[in-house]
Amino acid sequence: MDRRDEAGQSREGLLRSYKRGESIPMRKSLEEAYRSDSESDLDATEFLDSEPLDTSSKPPPPAHQPATWLRTLQNICARRSKCILMIIFVLIIFWMILGGGGLFLYKQKPVDGESPPWYPTPPGGTVAQWSESYNKAAELVKKMTLAEKVNVTTGTGWQMGLAVGNTGPAIHVGFPGLALQDGPLGLRFADNATAFPAGITVGATWNKELMYLRGRAHGKEARLKGINVLLGPCVGPLGRMPAGGRNWEGFGTDPVLQGIAAAQTIKGIQEEGVMATIKHFIGNEQEHFRQSWEWGLPNAMSSNIDDRTLHEMYGWPFQDSVKAGVASVMCSYQMLNNSYSCGNSKLLNGILKDELGFQGFVQSDWLAQRSGVGSALAGLDMTMPGDGLKWASGKSLWGPEMSKAVLNGSLPIERLNDMVTRVVAAWYQLGQDDKSKFDGQGPNFSSWTNDKMGVINAGSPDDKDTKVVNKFINVQGSGEDAHSIIARQVAVEGSVLLKNKDNVLPLSKDGWPSDQGHEINMRIGIFGEDSGEGNGPNACPDRGCNQGTLGSGWGSGAVEFPYLISPAAALKEAFNKDRVYVTDYPTNSPPFKSTPVILKDQDICIVFANSDGGEGYIASEGISGDRNDLYLQHNGDNLITEVSEGCGDGRGSTIVVIHSVGPVILDKWINLPGIKAVIMANLPGQESGNAIADILLGKVNPSGKLPYTIGKSLDDYGPGAKILYHANGVIPQQTFSEGLYIDYRHFDKFGVEPTYEFGYGLSYTKFQFANLRVTPVLPKSSLPAPRPTGIAPPKFEDVIPDASEALLPKGFRKLKKFVYPYIDKLSDIKKGKYPYPEGYDIQQPPSQAGGDEGGNPDLWNVYANVSVDLTNVGPRGGKEVAQLYLSFADLQGEAKHVDFPLKVLRGFEKVYLEPNETQTVHFNLTRRDFSYWDVVQQNWVMPTEGSFTIRVGTSSRDLRLTGWY
Ligand code: BGC
Repeated sequence: MDRRDEAGQSREGLLRSYKRGESIPMRKSLEEAYRSDSESDLDATEFLDSEPLDTSSKPPPPAHQPATWLRTLQNICARRSKCILMIIFVLIIFWMILGGGGLFLYKQKPVDGESPPWYPTPPGGTVAQWSESYNKAAELVKKMTLAEKVNVTTGTGWQMGLAVGNTGPAIHVGFPGLALQDGPLGLRFADNATAFPAGITVGATWNKELMYLRGRAHGKEARLKGINVLLGPCVGPLGRMPAGGRNWEGFGTDPVLQGIAAAQTIKGIQEEGVMATIKHFIGNEQEHFRQSWEWGLPNAMSSNIDDRTLHEMYGWPFQDSVKAGVASVMCSYQMLNNSYSCGNSKLLNGILKDELGFQGFVQSDWLAQRSGVGSALAGLDMTMPGDGLKWASGKSLWGPEMSKAVLNGSLPIERLNDMVTRVVAAWYQLGQDDKSKFDGQGPNFSSWTNDKMGVINAGSPDDKDTKVVNKFINVQGSGEDAHSIIARQVAVEGSVLLKNKDNVLPLSKDGWPSDQGHEINMRIGIFGEDSGEGNGPNACPDRGCNQGTLGSGWGSGAVEFPYLISPAAALKEAFNKDRVYVTDYPTNSPPFKSTPVILKDQDICIVFANSDGGEGYIASEGISGDRNDLYLQHNGDNLITEVSEGCGDGRGSTIVVIHSVGPVILDKWINLPGIKAVIMANLPGQESGNAIADILLGKVNPSGKLPYTIGKSLDDYGPGAKILYHANGVIPQQTFSEGLYIDYRHFDKFGVEPTYEFGYGLSYTKFQFANLRVTPVLPKSSLPAPRPTGIAPPKFEDVIPDASEALLPKGFRKLKKFVYPYIDKLSDIKKGKYPYPEGYDIQQPPSQAGGDEGGNPDLWNVYANVSVDLTNVGPRGGKEVAQLYLSFADLQGEAKHVDFPLKVLRGFEKVYLEPNETQTVHFNLTRRDFSYWDVVQQNWVMPTEGSFTIRVGTSSRDLRLTGWY
């Protein structure tokens, strides 16, 4: 199958069971069946006659009780892959019920949400660091025709162009179509490109420099492949639910860790001239029900997040990203407070563009846009992939509809001008007008075929124009610049040593130490399918199955591996063959019963096990994106237990290595006497085997720290940590009532003992912390300085253009399904009164928390310096992460009445130290670090009475020093 078919199928929601080669379409059939002609894709009249779909202004909907039959149906659809006939039968009954009058319930529109209106969209071009780009952009935009402007804002449609997202050009002014490509792990669908370790592994390094270097290498590969916009990094999900399918794309379950990692990654990507995209804004914490229709329901779920939690938790890393100058923000699929994120004016206009001062452009997730004019007014700037409510339909909510909306006055032309200027300014800001870096020819690879020759618009049956579409350019770097070096280093430093009893690790490549009088050679047995190659790393589309060693999760964040070094292959190479016998059994059912010697004979047993998950459009082995539990998969727990009990006839040492998309429960076996060492190697990417060999043999001293808590059960994470697997209404509701208390904050608050806490990780050496010093830099004051006024955005002549600017040029041959900006005839433009959303004519006051890119600049001023001396007091060189946590327990006055977590991470620094070496580590704490979001004052407030307690140490529960500010 060529990639066009694979991707096309999966993107339309094809569920596959890859188990034993079966391939059973499930979700597509459901989706297609539910979607009928009665679901009106928007046309010109929508702009005039109907209610705006999502105006974010009215009271919340009542909670709907789930119908049992609906739940059952979802269960069948989401979990089982063998019941097609049953599903068809149920669907027929279902449609009969709908036809009989139930339709009105199913067609229920989301009642507009708990999210207040915020209009109009603040224009871009208000901060000095973007002013030059905005001036150039405005000059260009002024010369564009209406059709060209629409082109810049609208994707050309699914598979219309070589990248996963493509916009149309403004040819007359020399502005190219842009190519947008996933994603956080590497360049999706690309050949000869690096499969880096996933975000979660990057987070586990706690190494800012590596975060930056990985971003830069990723950005360089994108640029050399002709990509303008990278669809990463990802900080949403934040990781509220440990089983969440896409947590692995982000950097860990803490806003500060995510924010720092994202900012470093963005800096790296953008230094290469590629626009980074921070995603998914905001609340896409689970895959179930994330998207309309994907789960059989007409609307996506709503993540209901209160104002303070939004600012201090889910929004925090986005703020860091905007501060870092990110060019694009991707709004998420689901609703936020019952208003679709991509049409939520409070979120996009209010928080992102006014308060955070975002200067780039907002693009929709793929088909996350649910309204036409409504979403434009709410702050959306670019629709992706261009098709409207339905995959690959070619019927856009913008495109020609946007042209009509401007011409009939529904969409104010100033909004369109701002949308286009934001995109063009971002292009200038990243220097993409420099022809030596971007030749304007677009991608030199195709997302839709592996063949050299192919068509550009694979989604259109009309495109028969075969060309060279894959130039197979190797962008992996070579020699000292080989990106595999960075990939390996991230995988090494992102491996967390959880247990090392009797210092069983590191192993010597020569086996037994010669001074211990062992005469025989050492025997090492490697067990588990996760140690081996399986059917190769690219066996399933978008890595949508768990087989062989696990290098990444699945979905749009995954890539084609150029190679994947399996742990077994690397370990067999790593030991001295004259002294160590290594045998591998890359299966989870080794023949222990029939051939007990394979266990009995070993001195050391290394067991590999894993847990996989991913994006919700793929399901594999009953896992529909979100994991069903936190246990190891494929009987990994039993394998580990069996191996540890039988290894060396009970006298051997068992070392466990886990590859996983997130935390796993270890308690079934962690305390068994034979389990001597455990490594959480996260998702290591292509250099997996080399990295684990480096750690196991002590070539590199482990320095990874957990980017999440490992609990003893899912319940231990609190009620908010549970995925909503069964719809609790026609519009499923997930209310984040735990607020600030996720992961370690929850464990701390409720006194729950984790197996291993957030920030934990061992080394082969020991470190000592001493001399914590706090130096106040600025005096405390409750509110930030008044918002600066900023600079004036560019001015345009805001007159409705002549309709001829958008008429289909004479003799123009349209490709079927391609999204064009053109109107066929003037009579298509319907005049009338557009029902603007409630609150549309109330001008909102600018937020005092805003005023620059990243918010009020005072929030970023340093108010205190902290330093500690860190010494390596152990036998070998190694890296340690000094982690700084803030506690609010000693505050007085008003702050006493504010609820604060026991402690929150506010900074970290990783340093390398030779034995006996000491270095001073410095932290800068900003006003934002010392503030909480006050929902009444609508501003960041710094408590001024009493003291902030500052603690530094080596994990969230091993804090060795304390100071006060
Ligand atoms: C994902 C995005 C991704 C996009 C394009 C969507 O399904 O949610 O993260 O960038 O597809 O592939």
